[in-house]
Amino acid sequence: MLKFENVTKTYDGGFQAVKSVNFEIAEGELLVLIGPSGSGKSTTMKMINRIIPHTSGKISINGKDIKSYNAADLRRNIGYVIQQVGLFPHYTIEKNISIVPKLKNWNENKTRTRVLDLLEMVGLDPKIYASRYPKELSGGQQQRVGIARALAADPDIILMDEPFSALDPITREQLQEELLKLHKQLKKTIVFVTHDMDEALKMGDRIAIMKDGNLLQLDTPEKLLHEPAHGFVEEFMGKHRIIQNPELMPVTEIMAEKVVTTRSNTSPERAISLIRQRKITDLLVVDDQKKLLGIVSAYDLIKQIDGIKTIDEVMKPAVPFLLDTATAKDAIIMMDSSPFGMIPIVDEHHILVGLVNRGSLLSAMSSQWTDKGAVLDE
Ligand SMILES: Nc1ncnc2c1ncn2[C@@H]1O[C@H](COP(=O)(O)OP(=O)(O)OP(=O)(O)O)[C@@H](O)[C@H]1O
Ligand SMILES: [Mg+2]
Repeated sequence: MLKFENVTKTYDGGFQAVKSVNFEIAEGELLVLIGPSGSGKSTTMKMINRIIPHTSGKISINGKDIKSYNAADLRRNIGYVIQQVGLFPHYTIEKNISIVPKLKNWNENKTRTRVLDLLEMVGLDPKIYASRYPKELSGGQQQRVGIARALAADPDIILMDEPFSALDPITREQLQEELLKLHKQLKKTIVFVTHDMDEALKMGDRIAIMKDGNLLQLDTPEKLLHEPAHGFVEEFMGKHRIIQNPELMPVTEIMAEKVVTTRSNTSPERAISLIRQRKITDLLVVDDQKKLLGIVSAYDLIKQIDGIKTIDEVMKPAVPFLLDTATAKDAIIMMDSSPFGMIPIVDEHHILVGLVNRGSLLSAMSSQWTDKGAVLDE
C-alpha cells in the first residue's frame, strides 16, 4: 500500500535526518514510528504527504510514486493529525471538519451529514459541539475533532504525529481505545508517531524503531520484545517488557534458572538442613535427568520427620507447573492457585528448567528488575 525504498532526507549542509529507509505498510495496517527525539520520525511521516520533500529514493502509494501526484491532491487524500491539533480558531467545529470535503467539492448536504456522523464517531454530541468554537473545547475534545477532521474526506491513509501526547493520561487512554475501535471499523492505513512505548505496544500492528535517521527494526510488538535485532532496540524495549505486557513475555525470561533441588531418596534431616540453609520453604525433587518428580514442603517434613526414612514418603505432585513455552501472564494467573507460592517451569520432557515464585514475579513486574538468578543450586 505504502512503500519506502531507500528514502533519504538530507538538509542543507548535508545533515541526513532520514537515512536510506526501506519499509512497506500493508493496507489497513497501523504502523507506529517510535524513537528518541530527533530520530527522524516526523520527517519520515511528513515525507509521505510531501510536507517535507524527500531528497532521494522512492515513496509510492499503491505502486504510484508520490511525486507523480499533485501535492495538494495528495494531501487532501491523506488525513493528518498533529499534537497541537491545528484547528482554525475562528471556524466552528463543523466548519473545521468540513474543510477538506469542501476542497473536494462535496455538496453541502453530503458534507454536513458526514461532519455530524464523524462527531458522533469520535464521541462528541453533534448537537452540542458542531456549532462551538475550538477554544470552547477541552484539549481532549479538540483532539477528537482533529481525528474527525483527518477522517473527513474518507482518506485511505491517515498520518498521526504524537496525536495524544499533550493529553492527560485518562483522556489519552480513552482516545487510544477509540482510535483502535475506529481503526478496526474503518480499516484505514495509519502511520502513528509516538515516543511512548506503552502507546506503541498498545496501538501498533507493527512498530518501527528509529534512531539517528536509521530504521533499526520494524516488527510486531511480540517480535520486538522477543527478538530485538539491535542492542539499542533491546535497551529501548527494556523496561516495558514485562510491566505492561506480561502476555508477551516468555516465562523463561522471568524465571530463576538456578533452583535448589534434591533427590527422592534424600533423608528428611538432610532435606530440612537444606531448606534452612537456603532459606526456602519447599524443595523440588528431581531424578538424575532433572525430571521433575514432585515437591516436599518444610511443613510436611518437620511434622513427619520421625515417621519417614526418605522424603519421597511425604512428596506431593508438583502442581501446578508451567511449560517453558508459557508466558509471564500465565504465571501471574497460575500463582494464585499454587499452594506453594511457586511454579516450577518444565520443558516438554518434564525436565525442570526453572522456577517462578512470588518474589521473581514481583521484581519482574517492577521497573527495578535487574537480576533473575535469585536461587542457588544445591
Ligand atoms: N529544516 C531543518 N533543517 C535542518 N535539520 C532539520 C530540519 N528539520 C528537522 N531537522 C533535524 O532532523 C532531525 C529529525 O527531526 P524529526 O522532526 O524528524 O525528529 P523526530 O524523531 O520527529 O523528533 P521528536 O520526537 O522530537 O518530534 C532532527 O535532528 C532535526 O533537528
Ligand atoms: Mg517529531
